[in-house]
Amino acid sequence: MKVVRAVAELRAARPSLSSPVGFVPTMGYLHEGHLSLVRAAAVENDSGAVSIFVNPTQFGPSEDLAAYPRDLSRDLGLLEMEGVDLVFVPSAEDMYSPGASVTVDPGTVGERLEGASRPGHFRGVATVVTKLFNLVQPDRAYFGQKDAQQVAVIRALVRQLFLAVEIRDCPTVREPDGLALSSRNVYLSPRERLAAPALYEGLSAARELWSRGETSAAKLREHVCRVVEPHPEIRLEYVSVAHPATLEEIESVDEDGALLSLAARAGRARLIDNVRLEGAAWSREDV
Ligand code: PAF
Repeated sequence: MKVVRAVAELRAARPSLSSPVGFVPTMGYLHEGHLSLVRAAAVENDSGAVSIFVNPTQFGPSEDLAAYPRDLSRDLGLLEMEGVDLVFVPSAEDMYSPGASVTVDPGTVGERLEGASRPGHFRGVATVVTKLFNLVQPDRAYFGQKDAQQVAVIRALVRQLFLAVEIRDCPTVREPDGLALSSRNVYLSPRERLAAPALYEGLSAARELWSRGETSAAKLREHVCRVVEPHPEIRLEYVSVAHPATLEEIESVDEDGALLSLAARAGRARLIDNVRLEGAAWSREDV
């Protein structure tokens, strides 16, 4: 496994990767969710590349950039065991040269939901992912469905900027009690950790209600709240029923299906999760 740290080194190493190249961009502190993406990339491609970069431009001024968990030597050990060919670990100075002013703004799809509580977050994500795609030049790139809005933003980015990369999204990996894996779960206290599975319970209960014929977005949102609210350790920030591609809120779920998603605070941790209400829009090109 080759580990490269500078842009020039990456450019020199890239031609030695055999095509197709599968790429998994990460911010490190890897867990089974990331490794499931690495494994999906290994199955579908001839070589695998991973980036580890805690991207400063996607953190807001009050967010946890300095405290974001990091463990590079453990991450490299895990990637070595997965048989990854190339790991790119750039510095912030390399990715953002002094005076860097060009950004990639995903527009409305990045302003809703997470974008509303984290202004500029998806501009930071779209900018760094564009840079990484240009540097690594992957044939396929892999993202987790847990970050559903990130997937929608990146699909819009690739489609609208005609980027030559296929986006693959992979199912959320969960703890046995349903909690979605996240690097931020380390912030949960034991009491918060015990309460946190209520988020997925609420989403699953609402999905079950929808599968039995309930289409009202208000009723589905209420159902999620009813499951989560008895847990005082968790404070819901939003519950959303939105169109799968545009993420526009909808009033009732039709044959296109919907994304049912939420964000919540549990102590220091901000948790997000979602389930798909499957429908035609999920399998169309624009999702
Ligand atoms: O999902 C993440 O870890 C990050 O948002 C990403 C895609 C690596 C961009 O920094």
